[in-house]
Amino acid sequence: MADSLPKLAVLISGNGSNLQSIIDQITSDQLAAQIACVISNNTNAYGLERARKHKIPAYAIEHTQFESKAEFEKEILAVLNNYQPDLLILAGFMRILSPDFVAEFPNRILNIHPSLLPKYKGLNTHQRVLEAGDQEHGATVHVVTSELDSGKIIIQDRCKVNADDDIESLQQKVHRIEHVIYPQAIREYTQQLTR
Ligand code: GRF
Repeated sequence: MADSLPKLAVLISGNGSNLQSIIDQITSDQLAAQIACVISNNTNAYGLERARKHKIPAYAIEHTQFESKAEFEKEILAVLNNYQPDLLILAGFMRILSPDFVAEFPNRILNIHPSLLPKYKGLNTHQRVLEAGDQEHGATVHVVTSELDSGKIIIQDRCKVNADDDIESLQQKVHRIEHVIYPQAIREYTQQLTR
């Protein structure tokens, strides 16, 4: 890998705004990496279109089409095998990967989570922040391990929660943070990998 750009495979489920921020940083030479492929578990994910617009191979692998998680993951592995990525980037990928899958890429999977981990692992983070009356919120990029949202934290950034914030406004604030810290975390992490 030392001689070439680190190869990323990005896994998504939806809009793909984080994918877009990574693409934008690559195309503007701010992130020295290449996206080998994008995989979505949802055929209708807008992120697939974003990838195709940039001529990145994009695959829909619907989890609902498989009898088990193992079969679904086998198919993802088969696609990844064609590209041999250095790093897997989970960018709004809404399936929990099995320990067996994670073990195929030790310390080679990153995730972005919309909370200040270790607070609010799992879903509905904005709602939980509001319910708890927290005064700050944020996003975290971390290494994926077999335990949900628990691997080593690479970067975290925070924002204030105001009295008039609601789920939507928090989502927007957190997205703005994510679009900055995810490319930054990938930059730092891939530099480490090449050392
Ligand atoms: C992000 O908020 C991410 O933290 C969460 O899902 C959202 C994905 O957004 N896991 P997008 O698809 O990148 O726009």
